[in-house]
Amino acid sequence: MISILDAACDRHLFAPWFKNREHWAAWFAFLAALFAIEMTEEQASVYRACTGREALPTTAATEAWLAVGRRGGKSFVLAMLAVFIACFRDCRQFLAPGERGTIMVIARDRQQARIILRYIRALLRVPLLAQMIERETAEAFDLDNQITIEVHVASFRSTRGYSIVAALCDEIAFWPTDDAAEPDFEIINALRPGMAQFPNSLLLCASSPYARRGALWDAHRRHFGRDADPVLVWQAPTRVMNPTIPQALIDQAYERDPASASAEFGAEFRSDVESFINLEAVQACISRGTFERQPRTGLRYLAFTDPSGGSSDSFTLAIAHRENDSLILDCIREIKPPFSPEAAIAEFASTCRSYRISGIVGDRYAGEFPREQFRKHGISYDVSNKSKSDLYLDLLPLLNSRRAELLDNPRLAAQLIALERRTARSGRESIDHPPGAHDDLANAVAGVLASNLAVRSGLRMFTYPVVGSRPGCEIDPKTMRPIERERIRWLKVN
Ligand SMILES: Nc1ncnc2c1ncn2[C@@H]1O[C@H](COP(=O)(O)OP(=O)(O)O)[C@@H](O)[C@H]1O
Ligand SMILES: [Mg+2]
Repeated sequence: MISILDAACDRHLFAPWFKNREHWAAWFAFLAALFAIEMTEEQASVYRACTGREALPTTAATEAWLAVGRRGGKSFVLAMLAVFIACFRDCRQFLAPGERGTIMVIARDRQQARIILRYIRALLRVPLLAQMIERETAEAFDLDNQITIEVHVASFRSTRGYSIVAALCDEIAFWPTDDAAEPDFEIINALRPGMAQFPNSLLLCASSPYARRGALWDAHRRHFGRDADPVLVWQAPTRVMNPTIPQALIDQAYERDPASASAEFGAEFRSDVESFINLEAVQACISRGTFERQPRTGLRYLAFTDPSGGSSDSFTLAIAHRENDSLILDCIREIKPPFSPEAAIAEFASTCRSYRISGIVGDRYAGEFPREQFRKHGISYDVSNKSKSDLYLDLLPLLNSRRAELLDNPRLAAQLIALERRTARSGRESIDHPPGAHDDLANAVAGVLASNLAVRSGLRMFTYPVVGSRPGCEIDPKTMRPIERERIRWLKVN
């Protein structure tokens, strides 16, 4: 059988993509390691530097992890591996007549999926391989050897029920945490049973590294630098894998934000980003099977909202009350974009009224719009005097001490668990969602529980206007005038 390195050098196959082979030397070393192809001295030394191992591999890997910097060539190499395995590995002996084996490529979002699809389409277009295509759809290529290459967006649901010859996961450290708190572990666990029927299946996960958690970190921690470990872990900065990226570009990134650049381009796991709330603490506070609590007489409810303009983020609402020592979440609402803010506010106002709530507190939001609109519906709107980070800091002890009772909502749980704490160079801490993820529900819930907490400790809400040049006043970027709004303070009452 032809090896992947032969294919990369064959002018009828992939050689047109490797015009300057010197630039690809590190990738060739990786591919040699992956398939246990005999290495040159130079490849062996790259292998040792990028794996922390001494001994050269003697068998092809069935599981491998790549922690490689941005623009290092990961997506392209995954695409090439998908095409190579699809076209040159004969799996028919493991497939029933009519059954298809799938090479599954999993991307973090649609845009990344499109990039990989483009690479795959181009690689399959070489005349020798093009004749193998039986059918091409928007996200899949059926070949005439019972193999299908499919490109998916990371999702727990879409990856079940396949016979998987190879699963190639791209940017796994950045898979969306909106619906699952740990999408990387969950999706990989869902893939594994589908791979069991192929003795030489391959699970290959690539990503630029991020925080010290998740499946990539876990694999690195357990398998990096261990000779004779069946799981191959390869870690390399962008320029090691792709020397065509200018050093100046990387230097600029380090100047702007060294912590971020050392992960993005240096392929080091960040030490300044940690998870904020642990999974068990959140799970312990969930009232299983309770999706909402109906309004009850005699209770005083508070509401908090995280407004959005309707184009990119969700607009969320949370309602809660206190009972003795516990803070109880009663209702959460999320309206996902696109939506009309007017209609969203009308709906939220009516929900508030059903809990006899006449005033809502909202996240800091530049603009008069939500306040005006809520007022039209007879609901006053106050801007929270606490930042989002402060609200999360209030929430943490409530969850850790199980004083909060949450609702059974997987998106809320996922957003809470995904929150991360960053320490800036100045030492200042902030708590927020991971890059590319959302925390709109978590924000509303933290807001409403913190409001209840303040009431509980004998504090009363007091609103006062903030106008003009007072400290803390924000400028509306459209009108360049100060935003006039009320702030709330919690005052001790006896
Ligand atoms: N070693 C290399 N030599 C030359 N070009 C490379 C090399 N590695 C990657 N490239 C090119 O750099 C671009 C970015 O590659 P890509 O696979 O999208 O990077 P990543 O997914 O790691 O961010 C692609 O056009 C790819 O062909
Ligand atoms: Mg990529």
